[in-house]
Amino acid sequence: MLEGGIPVPSSVLISGETGSGKTTLCMQYLFKGAELGERGIYFMALSEPAELMLRFISTYEFVDHRHFGTLIRYIDLGEVIEKGDEDEILELMDREVRSFMPRRIVIDSLPFIRTVLKDGYNRFLFRLGAIMKSWDSAVLITAESRSSTPYPQDIACITDGVIILYNMEIGRTRRRSLEILKMMGTSHRAGKHALDITSKGITVYPGL
Ligand SMILES: Nc1ncnc2c1ncn2[C@@H]1O[C@H](COP(=O)(O)OP(=O)(O)OP(=O)(O)O)[C@@H](O)[C@H]1O
Ligand SMILES: [Mg+2]
Repeated sequence: MLEGGIPVPSSVLISGETGSGKTTLCMQYLFKGAELGERGIYFMALSEPAELMLRFISTYEFVDHRHFGTLIRYIDLGEVIEKGDEDEILELMDREVRSFMPRRIVIDSLPFIRTVLKDGYNRFLFRLGAIMKSWDSAVLITAESRSSTPYPQDIACITDGVIILYNMEIGRTRRRSLEILKMMGTSHRAGKHALDITSKGITVYPGL
């Protein structure tokens, strides 16, 4: 699909409507890495305890409980986001990354921070973009989208890649697909590709 996978270092925006599979894709990415012995950090912006998240994703076969809390660190940013201090959020993230040195990082979900930071959000994004470049990791950033705006332009500006997940209504059913809009530094297959979510997680069917 993405020949050679997601380059390290780089950052990719994963956009899609609710239930389109953003969290699933990100978790699958971290557990895949853990299987290869790679460390990963999952930054949770929505203030959800680790146990709850683990229970939610445990329906997937790719979840290996031994990796959760060891190779995969789960950091709940909720408390520090609630304070609304942009410096504190960035400092916490940077500190965790520099001490754990993960190869794979997930930030789920970024626009939520906008509602708290308000005017400070653009500055926060700008600074996050700069900090990410100093991390030696592949960073996935998720964002909820609505049908009118498939992805938030302000986040796309600071990432090297953009992937959109669709769950389109077709008659009475829905069809899932994925589109790679941009991916700097790699060649990729243009257009939409069919996608399935099963107990195995996400499967992409390139070209379909
Ligand atoms: N074991 C499973 N088999 C098949 N489908 C599943 C399984 N577990 C969850 N799902 C489905 O996967 C979909 C993707 O959910 P996910 O939480 O990854 O989406 P999301 O884009 O992160 O949504 P949100 O924006 O609300 O956080 C859900 O609609 C859910 O119904
Ligand atoms: Mg989610």
